[in-house]
Amino acid sequence: MTTTTSLTNHQVRLAARPVGMPTRDNWRFTDEPVPPLTDGDVLVKTLALSLDPAMRGWMNEGKSYIPPVGIDEVMRAGGVGVVIDSRNPQFPVGAHVSGSLGVQTHCLVPGADIRRAGLAPIDTRVGSLTQWLNVLGMPGMTGYFGLMDVGQPRAGETLVVSGAAGAVGQTVGQLAKILGLRAVGIAGGKAKCDWVVNELGFDACIDYKAGPIKDALRQACPNGVDIYFDNVGGEILDTVLTRINRKARIVICGAISQYNNTTPVKGPSNYMSLLVNRARMEGIVVFDYADRYPQAITEMAGYLREGRMKSKEDVVEGIDTFPETLLKLFNGENFGKLVLKVADA
Ligand SMILES: NC(=O)c1ccc[n+]([C@@H]2O[C@H](COP(=O)([O-])OP(=O)(O)OC[C@H]3O[C@@H](n4cnc5c(N)ncnc54)[C@H](OP(=O)(O)O)[C@@H]3O)[C@@H](O)[C@H]2O)c1
Repeated sequence: MTTTTSLTNHQVRLAARPVGMPTRDNWRFTDEPVPPLTDGDVLVKTLALSLDPAMRGWMNEGKSYIPPVGIDEVMRAGGVGVVIDSRNPQFPVGAHVSGSLGVQTHCLVPGADIRRAGLAPIDTRVGSLTQWLNVLGMPGMTGYFGLMDVGQPRAGETLVVSGAAGAVGQTVGQLAKILGLRAVGIAGGKAKCDWVVNELGFDACIDYKAGPIKDALRQACPNGVDIYFDNVGGEILDTVLTRINRKARIVICGAISQYNNTTPVKGPSNYMSLLVNRARMEGIVVFDYADRYPQAITEMAGYLREGRMKSKEDVVEGIDTFPETLLKLFNGENFGKLVLKVADA
């Protein structure tokens, strides 16, 4: 049996692969009717989408930890929404869900694709919809497992995190403080640095846009650096490598300073510091930890409830602003987790 709907799905598709910074020409807007549901299907109305630096990588041809988005495909995006039609008893109408919804107003998830889409119920009493895209969502899980599993923090150590005022960075620094580490952020501009120290409770934050960070890093980390959680790569990574301690852990989470390069990625020239300090550098891909998200979400939700963790989101409205809104990530205009609001809850 099928259910029919008369809804129109408004979509943003990848029209062409960008060279350097994406432009509006890389995108195409389409409208198509929502097809009828069959047994097992779930129809989700998108409420808000997570805009992520990784989207830039998904626009490129080539092998990565996940296949690229194909030309003419709906752009991949994680999001939160509400079930508005369902042929699946696990996802009743009215339930809030998160998953890979895509940059579109409606997402029909076939029964066979529920797991692939990562469709999961979310409880809006535990956190707001935007918090489910931030500390309770993919960036929060990245910060949690990147720090806990790869960083292996110990109380009394010094952690440095770049992109400190962003989605992943805010989680990492706050968790480090909860665990009894010294937390030092690196972020662009005084407003972000002040917020990281005064609101999130980091011990210090270095404004990399004010000039070279070397001296400020030495002052902020008098005992050296035990964990560097790297979100940006490039020169900042190279500089932090000059301050690491014996057995330091460098968590390679991202390299946003390199994502729009038209020349090859600039690798660290100070990597011999790893040898001298018997240190290690290790990558993290958050999706590897999907089976353990529930445990981490419970822990993070507890910190939120107790007021020990803050969650800041930067919400921009309107699916048609997607091409320009995405760029905020690459020029540092987002202050907190960048969220695209698609519809009212
Ligand atoms: N490995 C994984 O599984 C995984 C999962 C999620 C995210 N990530 C990575 O984690 C990093 C942070 O992601 P997010 O979602 O939390 O983004 P975000 O930090 O909320 O936003 C990106 C921020 O990067 C900073 N930035 C942009 N260009 C820069 C440059 N050239 N040099 C230094 N900083 C720059 C900007 O902050 P400022 O104003 O401070 O410059 C901008 O606000 C990204 O590299 C992302 O790819 C990895």
